[in-house]
Amino acid sequence: METKEIKDTREHNGLFRHEYMLDISGLNKTYPTPNGDYVVLDDLDLKVKKEEFISIIGHSGCGKSTLLTMIAGLNEISKGTIIAGNKTVKGAGPDRAVIFQSPSLFPWMTAYENVMIGVKQVFAHGSKKERDDIVKYYLAKVGLEDSMFKKAKDLSQGMQQRVGIARAFALKPKVLLLDEPFGMLDSLTRGELQDVLVEVWNQEKITAVMITHDVDESILLADRVIMMTSGPRAKVGDILEIDFERPRDRAALLDHPDYYKYREHLINFLEH
Ligand SMILES: Nc1ncnc2c1ncn2[C@@H]1O[C@H](COP(=O)(O)OP(=O)(O)O)[C@@H](O)[C@H]1O
Ligand SMILES: [Mg+2]
Repeated sequence: METKEIKDTREHNGLFRHEYMLDISGLNKTYPTPNGDYVVLDDLDLKVKKEEFISIIGHSGCGKSTLLTMIAGLNEISKGTIIAGNKTVKGAGPDRAVIFQSPSLFPWMTAYENVMIGVKQVFAHGSKKERDDIVKYYLAKVGLEDSMFKKAKDLSQGMQQRVGIARAFALKPKVLLLDEPFGMLDSLTRGELQDVLVEVWNQEKITAVMITHDVDESILLADRVIMMTSGPRAKVGDILEIDFERPRDRAALLDHPDYYKYREHLINFLEH
């Protein structure tokens, strides 16, 4: 019998629809308040390619976290659609993992146990050995090989966020959503965790969307920086492609003339 390959021919920017991991269109978020409706996001469109790393910057209160939690399925969509993979987002799912500023670990449990909780849920069908391997693999990846049996409360903030990163990747999501994950860390620790994040992201070939208020972080990590307009009715105001090869070397980038062009572009956007 003859089989016909069905091709999706809807094209956008030279990419077919199935090459996008996230397809957000006409997104609106309206919060009811005592003084009437507050429209945070309106008619926001954004497409994210498979395996792409994008960062999102914008003024405080413009609606970045609102957008991210809507993609995560943790915040109801008022209007518009979000398609993740080929499914319309209707709620949270294991295909999308979130890393927040504070990893909210169970303090009395070990790093290992904190990662295992999620792994047990997502890989309930797997064997005990398989789950054990996954947890240990990701904890080692984030540099916690020697601390995995320490209690979370005994770990530094940076190490706790390493657990947060391991926990998210261990669920093997298709999309990783990060909301200012390093915002609370000192700059040295932040740099270390940026490197850990990019290394694991690169190996796992997943799509990442990261909110940051740090312009340098957004350039260093992302393929594209998405600039959101100030609210109310925020949308995507501008997009900057970061054309640096990977793996990227922090010190070398700081010497690259394009780095300052990118930086100026972003700062100009934020100042106007
Ligand atoms: N549950 C809510 N009810 C009403 N207003 C909200 C709610 N959550 C957020 N907001 C408002 O929506 C706007 C965007 O918030 P948020 O997405 O947290 O911004 P950002 O992450 O960019 O700082 C802010 O003005 C905030 O006060
Ligand atoms: Mg926020």
